Amino acid sequence: MTLGVGLSACAGVQSALDPAGHEAREVATLFWVMLIGAAVVWTAVIGVAVYASRFKSGPYDDAVGHRVILWGGVAFPTVVLAGLLVYGLGLMPKLREPGEGLRIDVSGEQFWWRVTYRPKDGAAVASANEIRIPVGERVEFALTSPDVIHAFWIPALGGKVDMIPGRVNRLVLKAEKPGVYRGACTEFCGASHALMAFDVRVMEKPAFEAWLKAQSAPPPSAKGQDLFTRHGCGACHQVSGTDAKGEVGPELTRFGDRLTVGAGLLPNTPKNVARFIRETDTLKPRSKMPAYSALSNEDALEIANWLGSLK
Ligand code: CUA
Repeated sequence: MTLGVGLSACAGVQSALDPAGHEAREVATLFWVMLIGAAVVWTAVIGVAVYASRFKSGPYDDAVGHRVILWGGVAFPTVVLAGLLVYGLGLMPKLREPGEGLRIDVSGEQFWWRVTYRPKDGAAVASANEIRIPVGERVEFALTSPDVIHAFWIPALGGKVDMIPGRVNRLVLKAEKPGVYRGACTEFCGASHALMAFDVRVMEKPAFEAWLKAQSAPPPSAKGQDLFTRHGCGACHQVSGTDAKGEVGPELTRFGDRLTVGAGLLPNTPKNVARFIRETDTLKPRSKMPAYSALSNEDALEIANWLGSLK
């Protein structure tokens, strides 16, 4: 029962032990090999200790003692640890092979994710707080940060990499199963570090390409857009095809398509978006976005509805 509960915690959209990508599978296998190796060694050592203290009466002679130390204390650990080390190091070049074309720049910000798709052929596409990738393709991520150190980790797809100001770190991931997975920031980066997640949507290649292509069409307009403009949201946010050209906050051109608002904070519903606009300071402490508490609930909802219509 306890074991069942324990193991069920290892499955799901954010588990390194439930791999949905090539790199994650390699790392998970390494984990199990190391774990089983450690368990075997531990059992052997404890077994010898129990034998010596419970079943063996009186001391061994010196020759036996020396042999035990030489074989059990020097030779055996050297061989086992060297084997595990070679196996572990052998993985590294495999995890560093180059990508197959699509590059995605991701920048960790306080406290959200700036995402830019750079397809081999075609213009760059800006987005935020959600990453879409095609299944079965080695996608290269270029990871950086403008402020403090964040860390980029999609446990179901691969290992984690730090995002360091002034540096670009590379990570290549190949997803093997379509679906929605969850990534998170895994380096303490400030008050809302724990509120900095993102969804990763792994799509079939044709659907992904159609989606990427559709990103360049201008969005529909509405009353909410008017309010969005009048309250100056465009100073920080960008909605392509409109006057909103801000770069400080998350890009919002296809916001309606995203699963969450606030970098994985709440499900993306108009009510939650309106709440996020009016209560940013309490929902996401130290976020650079001020709370628009002076905005009426109705107006916030109008803006939220318009943002929700951007697909
Ligand atoms: Cu960003 Cu922790």
